[in-house]
Amino acid sequence: MREFLIIGHKALTSGNFSLNDMPGSAGRMDILCRCTSAALFLSHDMRRDVQVHLLLLGEPDPQKIIRFDGESLRYLYPDERSSGSLIKKALDKEVGEQEIRSTPGVWVRRGGLAMLLDEFVEKRCKIVYLREDGEDIRNIAGTFNDAVFIMGDHNGVTKEEEEIISNVGATVVIVGPISLLSEHCVTLINNELDRIIISE
Ligand SMILES: C[S@@+](CC[C@H](N)C(=O)[O-])C[C@H]1O[C@@H](n2cnc3c(N)ncnc32)[C@H](O)[C@@H]1O
Repeated sequence: MREFLIIGHKALTSGNFSLNDMPGSAGRMDILCRCTSAALFLSHDMRRDVQVHLLLLGEPDPQKIIRFDGESLRYLYPDERSSGSLIKKALDKEVGEQEIRSTPGVWVRRGGLAMLLDEFVEKRCKIVYLREDGEDIRNIAGTFNDAVFIMGDHNGVTKEEEEIISNVGATVVIVGPISLLSEHCVTLINNELDRIIISE
């Protein structure tokens, strides 16, 4: 299983936002939407072995997790408004810590980074943190069979979050020599792992 975790520090946590203003009043929800598409879409197909976890930390109800499950996902199209609309529906749900299904393949619950990372550790998932000073992914991508790739939004990752990530023994990797948009990192990770699978 290939998993992605993207942290949206300002991403709104209620469905009360306009699909016309996702970069503005929705707190850079556009980044989360593009990462979701980059993680899941192939040309005319979907990656069924991918899960995307969006950690939304904005107002009015910080710390919600939306999970897109490639295997059971329906009604998602590659454009930003499509993922935005599924996120909106998920955020309209009343939630607690128990995950509930919003639409086919989209799940939502309340929760934070530490809790989520503990779950990855429990299921023995390799934890990989994308940061511009890590080890080259090309040197170690072969070891990433069941892995979760963590990245920040336009503001990166806070010191406190980095501490939580480092406490679970994350491997720090770069996907290239310069700082890229989060969604481009997702595409490059998929590509690196695809190349390994295809050459095997
Ligand atoms: C737009 S960047 C954030 C830039 C922000 N100014 C910073 O210093 O963290 C968004 C995220 O993409 C990831 N990222 C960007 N370029 C990368 C690279 N070349 N290698 C690994 N991760 C990268 C990091 O996880 C970063 O948090």
